[in-house]
Amino acid sequence: MKAAQPVLRILLFFSCLLLSSHAAGAAGVASAHPLATKAGIEILEKGGNAFDAAVAVTAAIAVVEPSGSGIGGGGFWLMHDAFTGKNIMVDGRETAPGKAHRDMYLDEAGEVIPNLSVDGPLAAGIPGEPAAIAWISSVHGNLSLAENLAPAIRYAEEGFAVGEHYQRLMQFRHEVVKASPAAAAIFLDDGNVPEPGWILRQPDLAKVLRALAIEGFDGFYRGEVAETLVHGVQEAGGIWTLEDLADYRVRIREPIEVQYRDMKVTSAALPSSGGLVMAIALNQLAKVELDTLDELAHKHVLVETMRRAYRDRAAYMGDSDFVDVPIARLLGDEHATNLQQSISISKATPSSDLEPVHQDNPKGSDTTHFSIIDNEGNRVSATLSINYPFGSGFVPPGTGVLLNDEMDDFSSKPGVPNVYGLVGNEANAIAPGKRMLSSMSPTFLETEDRIAVIGTPGGSRIISMVLQGALAFHAGASAEKIVSKPRIHHQYLPDRIQYEPDAFTAKEIVQLYVKGHQLHPRGRTWGNMHTVILNKASGEIEAASDPRGEGQASVIE
Ligand code: DON
Repeated sequence: MKAAQPVLRILLFFSCLLLSSHAAGAAGVASAHPLATKAGIEILEKGGNAFDAAVAVTAAIAVVEPSGSGIGGGGFWLMHDAFTGKNIMVDGRETAPGKAHRDMYLDEAGEVIPNLSVDGPLAAGIPGEPAAIAWISSVHGNLSLAENLAPAIRYAEEGFAVGEHYQRLMQFRHEVVKASPAAAAIFLDDGNVPEPGWILRQPDLAKVLRALAIEGFDGFYRGEVAETLVHGVQEAGGIWTLEDLADYRVRIREPIEVQYRDMKVTSAALPSSGGLVMAIALNQLAKVELDTLDELAHKHVLVETMRRAYRDRAAYMGDSDFVDVPIARLLGDEHATNLQQSISISKATPSSDLEPVHQDNPKGSDTTHFSIIDNEGNRVSATLSINYPFGSGFVPPGTGVLLNDEMDDFSSKPGVPNVYGLVGNEANAIAPGKRMLSSMSPTFLETEDRIAVIGTPGGSRIISMVLQGALAFHAGASAEKIVSKPRIHHQYLPDRIQYEPDAFTAKEIVQLYVKGHQLHPRGRTWGNMHTVILNKASGEIEAASDPRGEGQASVIE
């Protein structure tokens, strides 16, 4: 390995040269909605860099895919600056309001009150997305925030035709949205679930975006918009205060980096569990001679590594500003060796045989992801959320801002599952100002010849999806293939493999049963992955959007 290093250095030198030849080259954007991708392309063509485009796509997707994310929510923006070579994660995750407390969703008997952390204003954390886009635009952008927000404001004012995705998710959240008069007036067609083709206009949201465009952070977190938001929340029984908004701050985090064979993986840091869980899985896989395994054994081992990595999530992870998470130990070689050695190739390890913890199981079908590479090699991988489809379903009157229900990502009570079936422990208990644990995993992948920007929504399945995307990328798969590949998932508890149609052959299903696995066909697909890939040698870009969704990938040559 050592002898190869001079060669590696020469290769690195050439790849830098080739990267700079990319300076005059291509760029790509892939997101969950054609209009959001178009906004990103518009900004790149105007001279904006990937960070400007990310701001434009974030705001546009908030308008055109209101079920998934929005300025009433938060997210993580993983960013690579081609000039400095640095990676950072902008943490715009929601925080618990100052009046929040660990038992706020429990009744007098100490039982969880159903839906209180999911529906209505009490479910909403303090939004981070407006602060994040203001920060990204002012610190890393070439264009002004107003220029970057222009496409979103246009879409909000002029309206656009909703699609089947909107209709399907609104059917799911119809009753909750109906309960908020301001939300119903905006998102429903005379109280009914809109048909595809119905035009959604959001003039109040356009006004709030304008205030943000002109005043930056203060346009949302202080002054008239903040007062209207807080008034609406309090009137409806929520606990937000003006101080909660004024005190909100983005955090700039060092991403999690892990070397998997010849691939560097850079992903989300806490308060997202994504980077750590993926690293724990990859560190185990790196110790297995995968080449010697047949397809079935390969899938079995993958499932067993997921089981162990997700167990660590349940046991240890929460907002590292509030709790001590043993990151170095979890990423250490000894931990990987211990986990890997506990895997039997011939049979499944029942999760009950692993040291017990309270645990997790989501069934998410919303949130959003986009990927961007610009012609200078800057990159943004962003996963954004308001949690459940259409978040809390609540809009403070006069704002057009649909609030998140991210408070449900905290553990309301140890051992009691949230909407995704997640049960947590002390590390993820509610505390004022604390960020709730996430699974969102915006990621960069890099091998000797290619770089990928990748991510997806999908609740706790996000991490296993990105893991499988990373392994497919490592094996040389195209962008199209990576986003299309059928997915499997195991998250420790419930102790079963979930799988998409076509993920296993009939024979493999039988063989997995024989090994002792429980199998749970989902019957339908999940996730909405978007990736942009740069070929270092040719400077070419390929981009792909998940065929399961309504997204679009575009490349500028
Ligand atoms: O941050 C999280 O992990 C969740 N709020 C993400 C939710 C999600 O992806 C919903 N469904 N696809």
